[in-house]
Amino acid sequence: MKSIDLAALLIGLVSLSLAAGAASETPATGGNAANGKRVFVTDGCYYCHGTTGAGGGIAGPRLAPNPLPLEGVKAKVRTASGRMPVYSATVLKDSEIADIVAYLQSIPNSTDAKDIPLLNR
Ligand code: HEC
Repeated sequence: MKSIDLAALLIGLVSLSLAAGAASETPATGGNAANGKRVFVTDGCYYCHGTTGAGGGIAGPRLAPNPLPLEGVKAKVRTASGRMPVYSATVLKDSEIADIVAYLQSIPNSTDAKDIPLLNR
C-alpha cells in the first residue's frame, strides 16, 4: 500500500509541475492595460511606435498586435539599441512595463469589418 501511495504522490507532483510549466509558456503580465496605455502615451513610447503600437511613428517598429512577451519588452526598454532610448528603472518601473505589455496585448489582432461594432447595428 505504501508504495502505491508514494506512486500516487509522485504522479501528483509531476502533473503539478507540468501544469506550472504550461502556465509559464503564456505568461500573464499581471499588468493593468488601462494604466499601460496611459504610460505608453505619457512616457513617449507613442512618439516612435504610434498610439496603438502599430509603428509608423517617428522611428519605431510595430509593437502590437502580438507583442513580444514581457521579458522581451523589458530587455529592449532597459538596454535598447538603434534609435530606441534606454528607460532606466528610475524613470520607468518594472510594474509600468508590465502594464504597457498588458496594454499591447489588449490590442486586437483583427482586420475583419464584422468586428467593428458600428457596422453591426
Ligand atoms: C525615440 C524613439 C523611440 C521611443 C521614444 C521608444 N522607442 Fe521603442 N524602439 C524604437 C526603435 C527605433 C526601435 C528599433 C530598435 C532596433 O531595431 O534596434 C525600438 C524597438 C522597441 C522594441 C523592440 C521591438 C521588436 O520587435 O524588436 C520594443 C519592445 C520597444 N521599442 C518598446 C518601447 C517602449 C515600451 C517605449 C516606451 C517606454 C519605447 N519603445 C519608446 C524607438 C523608440
